[in-house]
Amino acid sequence: MIRDKNKINDLAQDISNKADEYINKLDNEDMKNDLKRMISYYTIFKNAPVLILIYGSGYENDAYNMQKYLGEDEEKLQKLLFPTAPIQNVSAAMENLLLATSNMGYGTCWMTGPIFAVDVIENHIDFKKEGYELIAMTPLGVPIGDKIIQPMRKPLEEVVTYL
Ligand SMILES: Cc1cc2nc3c(=O)[nH]c(=O)nc-3n(C[C@H](O)[C@H](O)[C@H](O)COP(=O)(O)O)c2cc1C
Repeated sequence: MIRDKNKINDLAQDISNKADEYINKLDNEDMKNDLKRMISYYTIFKNAPVLILIYGSGYENDAYNMQKYLGEDEEKLQKLLFPTAPIQNVSAAMENLLLATSNMGYGTCWMTGPIFAVDVIENHIDFKKEGYELIAMTPLGVPIGDKIIQPMRKPLEEVVTYL
């Protein structure tokens, strides 16, 4: 958790600089424009008083190990790697954090965008923990206004399949 507003602001600037570096390197206009369009979303935490970085660690996938041992084909094995438990653990904790803090009147934003510059982030915060990787982050603060701009929700039929 970073609780130094200047440090948070500097981190956002470093991430923005890294994006500029990539933009200058890229000769693909679509990729360039995507990054230019997204960078404000990747640094949206810049004015927050607190920034929480969520790390998670991987662990052995027993089903994968067993079926690999039995010589199952690669396509089948890849399916077992897709729903990674460590990501799901962290996501549940993240969701609880966002709900609990929101209930206390704070504003947050689930973020993974800045992770494109994970090296920059870890250099900046001088934090590395063996076996753990940065999975998500969220600013935390009191929202400036009480107006919540929420994107349209997809209709239920589009996201639920009834069998
Ligand atoms: C996994 C994940 C990563 C996200 N990364 C970012 C991000 O880097 N920057 C950003 O502005 N919003 C990001 N968002 C979107 C906001 O968190 C979003 O506004 C929030 O999830 C509210 O949900 P809604 O858009 O469904 O209302 C992300 C959302 C999720 C679920």
